[in-house]
Parts: sequence; C-alpha cells; structure tokens
Amino acid sequence: MKDLSLPLTPDFDTWPVTAQIKAATILPGGHIELTWSDGRIATYHRLLLAENATDADTLHPLSRETLKSPLDFPEGLKATKAEIAPSGALEISWSDGTPRGAFHPGWLYAHGWTGTAPATPKPILWRAADLPEPATVSGRDALQDDRVFHKFLTSLRDHGVARLEGLPQQDGLLVEIAERIGTIRETNFGRTYTLAIQDDPTSNAYTPVALPQHMDLCTRECPPGLQFLYCRANDTSGGDGLYCDGYRIAEDIRAEEPDTWEAMTTIPWTYNNRAKTTSYKASGPMVDLDEKGQIAALRYETWLRAPLVADLATQDRAYTAYRRFAERAQSDAYLMRVRYKPGDLFAFDNRRVLHGRSAYDAAGGARFIEGVYADRDDLYSAIRVIERRLTV
Ligand SMILES: [Fe+2]
Repeated sequence: MKDLSLPLTPDFDTWPVTAQIKAATILPGGHIELTWSDGRIATYHRLLLAENATDADTLHPLSRETLKSPLDFPEGLKATKAEIAPSGALEISWSDGTPRGAFHPGWLYAHGWTGTAPATPKPILWRAADLPEPATVSGRDALQDDRVFHKFLTSLRDHGVARLEGLPQQDGLLVEIAERIGTIRETNFGRTYTLAIQDDPTSNAYTPVALPQHMDLCTRECPPGLQFLYCRANDTSGGDGLYCDGYRIAEDIRAEEPDTWEAMTTIPWTYNNRAKTTSYKASGPMVDLDEKGQIAALRYETWLRAPLVADLATQDRAYTAYRRFAERAQSDAYLMRVRYKPGDLFAFDNRRVLHGRSAYDAAGGARFIEGVYADRDDLYSAIRVIERRLTV
C-alpha cells in the first residue's frame, strides 16, 4: 500500500497543499527547480533544502529545530536526484550519499523563489479624514472568539491603533489581555502603570497637563513597540486621547520637504528621562529606515530630548526638522481625537502612532487609566498563532 502521509515541516505552522509538484529538475550547482500544477516555477538552494530536511538526524521532531551546523554539511553538497513521492512530497538524493528526509509540498510551495519576495503586510497609513476612529470590536466578543480577537490584532498591525470596547471593569484584565498577545515589557515605569496624578510625578503623564502627540520611552535603546491603555474611569472634563499616524506624517514630509526628511533621517537626537532614581539615555534619528528605505520606526518625544551638542548649522537643521514634524503631529489634518470611556482598551504601535491627551480638570472628577507595554513581535506572533488555529 502506498504511503500517502506527508512529512513534518521544520516549524509548527500549517501549510495547506494548494498545488502539486509536476516536475522536479536538478539545476547546475545541485540546486532544484520545481514546476507546480498551477504553473508556478520556483527554485530552491541546495543548502536551504539540506538544512530544512525532515529526517531525525537533521530535524528534532519535538522542537522542530535543525540539529545541524553549517559545518555538518560537506562543502559542495549537491542534490543529485529529485523525485515526487506518491504522497506528493519531494524526495532528494544527495551527493554525499546521506539519506535526508522528504519535503512537505505545502511548505515547499511557500518557500521557493519565484522572482519576487513573498508579500508581507504593509502598514495602512492614515490622516484624520481616513481614520477618524480606530477600528473597534467588542471586548467581550474578542475574549471569546478567535476571529474577533484576530480582527482587533490585524487592525492594530495595519493601522497602528485599534480599540476594544465594553470590557468589564476587572482588576488584572489588562495584564490578561496583554499576555494573551505576548509578554509584557517591563520598563522603568514598572510592569504596569496607572495614569493618575502623583504628588511627586516621574513624568508629565502623571500630571493633568496637556501632552502633545509623542512616543513613549525614546529614552530606551529599543522603545516598546506596543502600548495598551485600559480606561477604568473617566468623568473629568478634558483628557481626550489624541492620536496621529507618525508614518503618514513622515511619508508626507519625505514627499514634500526633502531637507526636513534628510535631517529627520540622519541627525541623531539623544533623549534622557528626568527621574530622580533612574537615568536612561538613548539616541537615534527621528526616523529609522530599513534596508529598503522604508520607515522602520520613529523616535520622537518632545519633553525628553536632551541638549543636542553639535555645530550651529546641524542644530539649525535638527530644530527646524523637529518643528516641521511637530507642526504636522499637532495639526487637525492628522488628528484622531477620542473620548476614553470606562471599558475601552486602546492598543497602539508606540513606534509609529503618536499619542497625546488634552489637559483635564483634576478637581472635576476621576480619571483612571491603566497601561502596559509589549513589543511588536508579540503582536505578529499572536496573529500567526491564531491563523494556525483558524486555518486548521
Ligand atoms: Fe505617553
């Protein structure tokens, strides 16, 4: 009887088989080219295949991690023969005679080179008119239904901000939700923090003054990627949440103000916190770019900038660029203004979407907002893990 079972994959993801291998060809150098039933032609490097083989000598069947170092493969190792198994898996013979495990067709389909890099989610940039309110779902539904929670998480990933509403008033619920996504990022403000007035504040956040749109913790080598604010009470006047998409602002500056853009991406500012018991400092330009020139993160926090010690011309460019960015960050054209209601949970990308608040009247009622930080890769991991469940 034919063995139609498919091999393991070197991960715990789900790889539906949406096409079959029609032909397998050995390329010069011992690499492999596969022709798929939907017409796709994809190439696979010999070492990508060797180190992702699924035999027990290469892949630990429980951890799904490779057991091989690069030096475990003979230099010049090549595929010498490729065959399609009855199950649809790919079986390869190797130049060193070592049998290695077969390859799952769904996994192969997703990991071949077809001439273009795989698509990854791109941020959806917004101004005030595009997104006057964050995407919002019922908090109670999100806690019970993977699909609703997934919508909340993907909105957060794509827009940089999303809201759960109607959550119960429950001590510890914010931590529970954050830990459903990933690991809480503890900072010099503690594991969690409460936005309320302090007698001896370690931040303007713990006073009733207005806070212009900003990021948190630019003082840290890697500022937290996510922030969650859970409103427990708010019957003061004022204290509205002010949000704007810093990536949209930066892209508009890139398109319209090349001198500002150049200063924003090249002149590092240093940020230091002003607390009595800690002294954090970190530096970086206002906009970090990735290897493709796309915006990777911002570093922008008005009241924590340290003196920029530089020549006058550099200072002039840096201050001008900061002002230009601030003009947009505090303008109505980019503004999302929201009223925090008890039971609201706002989640936002701290390194992209700037947040602030209007001043509030501390004598006019209660204002009690809990916060925690996490990181972006907690979010991306949570989305992928939920998608595993939703695609099974
Ligand atoms: Fe803040």
